[in-house]
Amino acid sequence: MTANPHIRIFDTTLRDGEQSPGASMTHIEKLELASLMEDMGVDVIEAGFPAASDGDFAAVSAIAAQSKSAIICGLARSTPGDIERCAEAVKKAARPRIHTFISTSPVHMKHKLKMGPNAVLEAVGRSVAQARNHTDDVEWSAEDATRTDFDFLCKCIDVAIASGATTINVPDTVGYSHPDEYGALFRRLIENVPNSDKAIWSAHCHNDLGLAVANSISAVANGARQIECAINGLGERAGNAALEEVVMAMKVREDTLPYATGINPIYLSRASAMVSRITGFPVQYNKAIVGKNAFAHESGIHQDGMLKNAETYEIMKPEDVGVAKTSLVMGKHSGRHAFRDKLESMGYFLEGEALNDAFKRFKTLADKKKHVFDDDIAVLVDDQLAAEGERIVFKRLRVVCGTDGPQTAEIDLTVEGEEKYAIARGNGPVDAVFNAIRQIVPHDSVLDLYQVHAVTGGTDAQATVSVRLNGEGIMATGRSSDPDTLVASAKAYLHAVNKLEARKAKRKAA
Ligand code: KIV
Ligand code: ZN
Repeated sequence: MTANPHIRIFDTTLRDGEQSPGASMTHIEKLELASLMEDMGVDVIEAGFPAASDGDFAAVSAIAAQSKSAIICGLARSTPGDIERCAEAVKKAARPRIHTFISTSPVHMKHKLKMGPNAVLEAVGRSVAQARNHTDDVEWSAEDATRTDFDFLCKCIDVAIASGATTINVPDTVGYSHPDEYGALFRRLIENVPNSDKAIWSAHCHNDLGLAVANSISAVANGARQIECAINGLGERAGNAALEEVVMAMKVREDTLPYATGINPIYLSRASAMVSRITGFPVQYNKAIVGKNAFAHESGIHQDGMLKNAETYEIMKPEDVGVAKTSLVMGKHSGRHAFRDKLESMGYFLEGEALNDAFKRFKTLADKKKHVFDDDIAVLVDDQLAAEGERIVFKRLRVVCGTDGPQTAEIDLTVEGEEKYAIARGNGPVDAVFNAIRQIVPHDSVLDLYQVHAVTGGTDAQATVSVRLNGEGIMATGRSSDPDTLVASAKAYLHAVNKLEARKAKRKAA
C-alpha cells in the first residue's frame, strides 16, 4: 500500500494572524507559540514580516534561533531591502525560508502598486533570484491570484519557478473564490505552467465567505501540497483557513481525502486556548474542533444515543484533539505528584519554580472552589506563564459594591518591587478597580474591550476576563482568571498595562 501524500502545514498565525486588528502578540508570546507549533508538528512556521518593524525582525530572528526541525519563514515584499532584512532574520534557522510576494491582479497592479504587467514580471524574477542567493528554500506568492488574469498568472509563476522558487502560493487574498473554482484553478495552473512539477503548490485562503477551509481542501484534491492556515482561523478580516479544521477534515475523512499531515492533533485544543489567551479573542462556542460545544450533546435523543454508543453522534473523539473528558481533577487534598501528572496529560511540562508556583496556585484555587476541572487548571497555568516577568504585580483588592455604593476599590500593587496603594471610586465596581490602578500607573490609553467568560459551569466557576487597551496607536490585550470576577478584572487590566508599557518602551528605544 502506498502512503498518502504528505500535505505541508504552513502556519501563519504569527504573520497573517497577527495582522488581524487587536491580535498583536508580545515577543515572549510569539516564542512560546512557535515552540508549541514545532511540538505539534507544523512543517513551516511563518514567524513574521521582518521589514515591517524592529519588533517583527527580532521575533523572527529569535524564533529562527530557537527552532529545531520546522522550516522558519519570513515574509518579504519584492523590494531588495525587504528581502535582505528577511534573509538576515531567518538565517539562524536550521531550515530558513524566504517568502516573497507581489500583487498580480489588475486592480492591485493599477491602484496599489501603480505598476504595469511587465514591471511586475521583472520584479518577480529579480526578487526570487535575490532570495535564492540567501537560501535554497524560496516561496513566491501572487497576491490576489484568484482575481488575476489566468495567462498573466501563468507567466508570473513560470518566471518565479525559472528564477528558483521552490513553493508557489496561489492566495485567495480577498476570500472571493469557491471550492470548485479554486480547485479548478490549481488543476489548470499545474497543467499549463511549464515545470510545474519543480515546485510545491500551496493554498492560502481567506474566509470572507466562510469558504477558506473548503477551498483549501479543494486545492489539495487538485494538486496543492501545502496549506497555509492559522490556529483558530486567525487572520486579516474574517481570517485564514483554520489549522485545526483542515487537519481534522483530512484525518477524519481519510477515506475520501487520502492525504496525511505531520500534525499531532492532541495539541490542537491547547494551541487554540493559547492563541485565544494571547490575543484575547474568545473562541466561538460552536467553533468546529475546538469550540466549547464541539463535543457537547444537549438534546435528550442525542444524549441517549451517546450513552448507547458514542459513534451515534461523534465523528471524532474529544481526546483525539486534546479535549480531556470533563473530569473532576482533584481537590485540596491532591498531592504535587498527581498535580504534575495531570499537567503532563494536558501537555504542560513544568519544572522547578514554575511547578511549585502552579501547585501553590492550584491549592489556593481548590480552597476556594469545590470542583476543580481541567479547564480551571489550564487557565491557572496559562495565566502564570503570561504574567512571568511583569513590572507591575497584583497583590490585593478590596471592593465595595451593591445598591448603596459608592462603588469603591482599594488596591495594593508592586511596581518594580516597590509597594503601592490606591483607593478610588467609580461608576460601578469595575470602573472603580480600573480607576484605582490608573492612580498608581497613570496612562492615557482607552479601554477598547472588556469581556467576561465563565471557565466552567456552576456559580463558583472561575471568570476569565479579557481587556484590550489602546494607547498612542499601540494595542495590548490582557487576560486573567479568578473565581472573583473583580480580581480577574484587575489582573487582566494589569496584564494589558504591562504589555502596553513594554511596547511603548520598545518603540521609544527603536
Ligand atoms: O492573503 C495574501 O495574499 C497574503 C500573501 C502575502 C501571501 O497573505
Ligand atoms: Zn493572507
